[in-house]
Amino acid sequence: MEEIKNKKRVLITGASSGIGAAFARFLAEKGWYVILTARREERLAALSREIQEQGGHADFLAGDISRADFREDLMQTVQAQGNLDVLVNNAGFGWYGYFSRMQWEDARNMLAVNMEAMAHLTRLVLPHMLARKAGHIINISSVAGGLPNQGIAMYSASKAFVDAFTTSLYRELHGSGVTASAMRLGPVKTEFYDQARQMENGGSVPAEQFGIPVERVNRALWRLLRHPRRFVYVPGWLSLTRWVEPLFGALIDPLGPLLLRKDQQRKI
Ligand SMILES: NC(=O)c1ccc[n+]([C@@H]2O[C@H](COP(=O)([O-])OP(=O)(O)OC[C@H]3O[C@@H](n4cnc5c(N)ncnc54)[C@H](OP(=O)(O)O)[C@@H]3O)[C@@H](O)[C@H]2O)c1
Repeated sequence: MEEIKNKKRVLITGASSGIGAAFARFLAEKGWYVILTARREERLAALSREIQEQGGHADFLAGDISRADFREDLMQTVQAQGNLDVLVNNAGFGWYGYFSRMQWEDARNMLAVNMEAMAHLTRLVLPHMLARKAGHIINISSVAGGLPNQGIAMYSASKAFVDAFTTSLYRELHGSGVTASAMRLGPVKTEFYDQARQMENGGSVPAEQFGIPVERVNRALWRLLRHPRRFVYVPGWLSLTRWVEPLFGALIDPLGPLLLRKDQQRKI
């Protein structure tokens, strides 16, 4: 029991697959107590078992993070068991295609998962972290937040929200002992792309073919935990994408839509 008490505790949302599951395995190997959440309970149970069989410590609470009541229950349960050192707001999903063809229910859900849940969980945990003068909130963003391109209207806007929110928070928290960071990821090989394809009227996200392995994101996470910063790009060279919109936005206006049209025609 004493051993568990001394471990760093992290809550990871979207831990049933992809980046969240990889973070959980990685941090558990580093000796952290990992708390997992997502909707697919059987996946969380299997991952939690796997971590425990390898001598790590994991717990899970399954639920739909788009629901405010679940978020409140989750945070209350987690905080009642001990302080959180790190919150990783990772749950999220994408959709590719013309916004005019996106089901409103999917768009609304994207706002709830990618933005609202991230902000609400942060709001719920911050007073506890501030009282202890310690804590790190890590929000999983995307290079798409700075690339508001055709085909990703809602997704790009949702990640721009994550970026702006994290920057403001980082500045508000200066000197408090608590900090916030955004990880602006490029394409990573996960179920993200299958998920986007399977949704109604959703198409294949072109960036899929450039996906990097999740292990690279793990290494960036570890560096960020040891040396907190306002944001990091993964891979690092994607920091260049910050300049694409200011420098080439006027070119993308007429040319970008041609790419989307070609992609959508291929599917018809
Ligand atoms: N893969 C990429 O190329 C890439 C690039 C940039 C940024 N990102 C970001 O990275 C994060 C993780 O994505 P990923 O690539 O690991 O994709 P993934 O494998 O599809 O994982 C998404 C996770 O989010 C969870 N989730 C989705 N809706 C949820 C809901 N309503 N309630 C609770 N959990 C929910 C899913 O769990 P359940 O389905 O079990 O609920 C799953 O665990 C996302 O924020 C994504 O935007 C990904």
